[in-house]
Amino acid sequence: MITLDVNGKKIEVSVAADTPLLWVLREELQLTGTKFGCGEGICGACTVLVDGDPTRSCVTPVETMQGRKIVTIEGLPDTHPVKRAWLEQEVSQCGYCQPGQILAAAALLQSRPAPTDTEIDSAMGDNLCRCGTYPRIRKAIHQVASETKGGGK
Ligand code: FES
Ligand code: FES
Repeated sequence: MITLDVNGKKIEVSVAADTPLLWVLREELQLTGTKFGCGEGICGACTVLVDGDPTRSCVTPVETMQGRKIVTIEGLPDTHPVKRAWLEQEVSQCGYCQPGQILAAAALLQSRPAPTDTEIDSAMGDNLCRCGTYPRIRKAIHQVASETKGGGK
């Protein structure tokens, strides 16, 4: 048994130690907001937060997650400023990459409450979006920064 802390809940799962966290989230816990894209740590679709840091769950063995705090897109409340800004700026197109984008943005705003465009591009650039929503992602992040006066959360 492996004990996980997911979205504030302690959960035990019975899976092989090297199972990717992504599969545990999607198949064992039915947290299907986290998406499978490349499966190789490249696209960022599978991004979750681990102890606040954006982490590629497709290449993260579940056994390394014991004692860590995992947050998926389902763990971010609908009232979270980043989720609200995403809706108001109509960031999503197909939406597939957006759970990972939102979590990466939330982490960025925690560390850089008022990021510049360069900082946004640097922090978010590895989260790929085939629909090209990057300009709206920037706008939404700037909106959160201005609403929270640089508070980020
Ligand atoms: S699915 Fe994990 S980085 Fe692409
Ligand atoms: S919104 Fe379609 S891939 Fe990003």
